[in-house]
Amino acid sequence: MSDDKTAEPKTLYPVPEAFAREALIDKARYDEMYARSISDPEGFWAEQAEALDWIRRWDRVKNTDFTGDVSIRWFEGGQINVAWNCLDRHEATRGAKTAIIWEPDDPKAPNRLITYAELAADVRRFANVLKAQGVKKGDRVTIYLPMIPEAAVAMLACARIGAVHSVVFAGFSPDSLAGRIEDCGSTVLITADEGLRGGRKVPLKANADKALDHAGGVGTVIVVRHTGGTVAMKDGRDVWWHEAVAGVSDDCPPEPMESEDPLFILYTSGSTGKPKGVLHTTAGYLLYASLTHKTVFDLKEDDVYWCTADVGWVTGHSYILYGPLANGATTLMFEGVPTWPDAGRHWEVVDKYGVTIYYTAPTAIRALMREGEAPVKRSSRKSLRLLGSVGEPINPEAWRWYYDVVGDGRCPITDTWWQTETGGLMIAPLPGATDLKPGSATLPLFGVKPLIVDNEGKPLDGACEGNLCIADSWPGQMRTVYGDHERFAQTYFSTFPGLYFTGDGCRRDEDGYYWITGRVDDVINVSGHRMGTAEIESALVAHAKVAEAAVVGYPHELKGQGIYAYVTLIAGEAPSEELRKELVAWVRNEIGPIATPDLIQWAPGLPKTRSGKIMRRILRKIAANEHDGLGDTSTLADPTVVDDLVGNRMNK
Ligand code: PRX
Repeated sequence: MSDDKTAEPKTLYPVPEAFAREALIDKARYDEMYARSISDPEGFWAEQAEALDWIRRWDRVKNTDFTGDVSIRWFEGGQINVAWNCLDRHEATRGAKTAIIWEPDDPKAPNRLITYAELAADVRRFANVLKAQGVKKGDRVTIYLPMIPEAAVAMLACARIGAVHSVVFAGFSPDSLAGRIEDCGSTVLITADEGLRGGRKVPLKANADKALDHAGGVGTVIVVRHTGGTVAMKDGRDVWWHEAVAGVSDDCPPEPMESEDPLFILYTSGSTGKPKGVLHTTAGYLLYASLTHKTVFDLKEDDVYWCTADVGWVTGHSYILYGPLANGATTLMFEGVPTWPDAGRHWEVVDKYGVTIYYTAPTAIRALMREGEAPVKRSSRKSLRLLGSVGEPINPEAWRWYYDVVGDGRCPITDTWWQTETGGLMIAPLPGATDLKPGSATLPLFGVKPLIVDNEGKPLDGACEGNLCIADSWPGQMRTVYGDHERFAQTYFSTFPGLYFTGDGCRRDEDGYYWITGRVDDVINVSGHRMGTAEIESALVAHAKVAEAAVVGYPHELKGQGIYAYVTLIAGEAPSEELRKELVAWVRNEIGPIATPDLIQWAPGLPKTRSGKIMRRILRKIAANEHDGLGDTSTLADPTVVDDLVGNRMNK
């Protein structure tokens, strides 16, 4: 190592003094609050809960058990309404403040600025529409919408009347939509004629029709007219949103919800089986989303906050909608993509609205980094004061580009580690309190007790590397897998009994900083989107010409991880470029474009143990082009298949 420290890239970025002076939470305060949240969780959370408007106060703050059947209950006895907390309670003081800035896909199309008073009225009106369609407390409503304000209105209207929303990302296929509708037994589906992304139309209503051809139970489809494209409307089932709301009263009292009543279901991929419905409940979720949003983004009254996620993912739920609105913030919703019409679009939007807090995913940063500095430097970005990252590990190179080029070296970056299951941020720097290290999510947030264990479950101390678990409950935690509590206990609490297992690997350094190393299970993270390898495999084997398939992730420069599929064809079928294309299209059609295989390798055989188990460790190494270190292959039923796979590997 050189003695000249300037030759090494900087590894520590102290909190800028000016930022610390103005910040909501400085280092001393973080230390004190964190210590209290761990030593006295009940006292800590009871105090924080005062920030919300309760219909009835709780009797008991925390009643959680990670053993046995696993039971997680917060604020029992309390009653609260999420929509009221996000909207009505702000009307007196923030009625004229912009709640949602909506920026359309096409920069030349009209935007929309919606005040708190307007949004509150829209939500109450649409809540009455849902009621008129027969939706009652506890009923499930599936939302399959593009990034338009109606998505927010629909979600909040459900919350207002106690219906449970299940938002399905608009990039999912009809089959994926159908599976999710059936699993939660929705009776109402809300969609739009078409979505728009990067100038391309997405046929949402047509997809919804296909989904409903084989998913029963939906009696009403409410359709937003967005692009004006022609769609088929089915008599007696389909209604236009604008017709349904016309003349409807905007008076709709909020349903008093028990703290543990369900708020939403969000499907996410796991290492086995079909996607599971992650269930979040009311009070604890809202408290956790709002507190983390306020503190991690150092939220001030006049901030213009932009999270670039889609409402179809948990980041959109907690950090476009519920957290920001509960905090009375101005939240920007963007319909488009970062690279259309060109790679300067995000920075134009930042300048157009004076965005102060910008929160995006490493995959977007890497894509923009590839386009060079010019599109960034065309904009001023002087309004920005804080940057955020979410969804996957951010490589230090991308971190530095984000910091130096986008933030002009002025703005701290908060790298936020969390999961659909955690409801809110878990490990992340507080920008006024935490010195930054590029690539590290840094330190745990309030109430979060990380524990790193070895493969036998032994807790590791000090600097170490292993499996990331959380030792105790926090209010935003998921409560169950919808309809399958046993799967919940089994998936998250059985690998290391008594602990919540995240599925992530993690290193802790000598300063106690956490570095997420990626999934240690059969889940891959493609452009910040979580995919179960098993799901892609079952889509592939559903093709008539495929006998067997094994899917693994491999390092991908832009996407973080790419999808690498090994495919064995049925006897008599010959590999061809045409078939490869057909299989790629097949998977896109079965699951959605986010599951598109990047590489398909024809595999005459897959490496299996004598008991028939596919040795994924070997397949991952070959896909990563690390075939020199394949380890012991002597336990394979037929070791020669490995030579063939190495010789014909796709990622050379
Ligand atoms: O592997 C971790 C990765 O994304 C997984 C959670 O994915 P999902 O439930 O789709 O939620 C994404 C948005 C929170 C985690 O298990 N992950 C998420 N954020 C980070 C991350 N990995 C490293 N650093 C992060 N900041």
